[in-house]
Amino acid sequence: MYSLMSSSPSISSSSSSFLGQTHFDSRTPNARLPTKDSWICKCVATPPTETTAHMTKVSRNANMAKLQAGYLFPEIARRRSAHMLKYPDAQVISLGIGDTTEPIPEVITSGMAKKANALSTLEGYSGYGAEQGENRLRAAIASTYYGDLSIEESDIFVSDGAKSDISRLQVMFGSNVTMAVQDPSYPAYVDSSVILGQTGQFQKDVEKYGNIEYMKCNPENGFFPDLSTVSRTDIIFFCSPNNPTGNAATREQLTRLVQFAKDNGSILVYDSAYAMYISDDSPRSIFEIPGAKEVAIEVSSFSKYAGFTGVRLGWTVVPKELLYSDGFPVAKDFNRIVCTTFNGASNISQAGGLACLSPEGLEAMHKVVGFYQENTNIIMETFTSLGFSVYGGKNAPYVWVHFPGQSSWDVFSEILEKTHVVTTPGSGFGPAGDGFIRVSAFGHRGNVLEACKRFKQLYK
Ligand SMILES: Cc1ncc(COP(=O)(O)O)c(C=O)c1O
Repeated sequence: MYSLMSSSPSISSSSSSFLGQTHFDSRTPNARLPTKDSWICKCVATPPTETTAHMTKVSRNANMAKLQAGYLFPEIARRRSAHMLKYPDAQVISLGIGDTTEPIPEVITSGMAKKANALSTLEGYSGYGAEQGENRLRAAIASTYYGDLSIEESDIFVSDGAKSDISRLQVMFGSNVTMAVQDPSYPAYVDSSVILGQTGQFQKDVEKYGNIEYMKCNPENGFFPDLSTVSRTDIIFFCSPNNPTGNAATREQLTRLVQFAKDNGSILVYDSAYAMYISDDSPRSIFEIPGAKEVAIEVSSFSKYAGFTGVRLGWTVVPKELLYSDGFPVAKDFNRIVCTTFNGASNISQAGGLACLSPEGLEAMHKVVGFYQENTNIIMETFTSLGFSVYGGKNAPYVWVHFPGQSSWDVFSEILEKTHVVTTPGSGFGPAGDGFIRVSAFGHRGNVLEACKRFKQLYK
């Protein structure tokens, strides 16, 4: 039997709680920081007398029970809320979660507004659309992002975001595959793998799930795994530019990765959610690498380019050339999954996507990306001037700062306590992230400048 301690503030599974003071009423006078024990959410065995709730006869999915504590960002949200209770007058600045902050350019919102208004007319109304997305949008994504790479409109599946597609892909692969991830990496790959039953139990001593191949990426190997030590898996998740390290793999490295997947008969799931942040000649798509269509799927998103984290729009490319061991096209199965689990992205979001890909929309997206890149430079310069080893930043909106020999959660706590700035502890992305914190460049300029001023005071 399990219960959540009743005095703990609600723990949202949604990262949106991160942005606001949703866990307490700030107008309530005499708000007090609960005692340490009372705000820690623990699963505890409850004495039978306390249990009055009806229990069903449904047993819990054992894979869900394998998941650790909570998803990283709700845990950070919880600590932030506790901090705000402790310091109700502090101006807390969040450079933690990778959520965008700047308004969506007008050229894009007006495309959505036009569609929304048209829905009130007989001529402009539309209901369910194609599960795979509107053809016009699929064609626009193919020509804009994959210009001369021979990716066809029919290879593209429009979605409500990359995160959902990561889970849809996992549902398609099923429980009997093995998988590899970069360590550190965006937590959704590992957690979805656990939920699907692809892994063993979490092993506390090494902070890893059994049956997942963790591909260590650190400054020593230039944030690219030593493939000679990586065991064969069916699926390889690879994100470039990487969240959280901010590192983008080079053409030569991706060529080796594609060859590795080919040699092993693996499928590469390549996450290019930050590709527009690349400022050097690193590939923006895995399909720039010859032969990739036979081994790779690419997931991507409008979230970080156009401020669509709330609007929700992404896409996945599954080339026709990608086949299972029996010769069956992966795209056909993905189509079936999409048609079964999804009824298509919102028609208003898709109108926004089309506006993003108009010449004016593209220019506006580049401006948004440019604004965050300037923030990134400010953060990088700050930590560099303080003598830290700083990584990422150049091709991504994330700065990865090294605190050798220290635990990332300790560093996170110290920064929060002394500067009221929320960052993200590197170990939340995998064991190789310990000793680092991720500082996000998503923030209003004034907040980024203020946060950097406080970092300088703390570490001068
Ligand atoms: C690497 C990576 N992939 C996917 C996502 C999720 O994107 P979306 O908003 O499209 O679901 C994120 C969000 O932070 C991310 O960092």
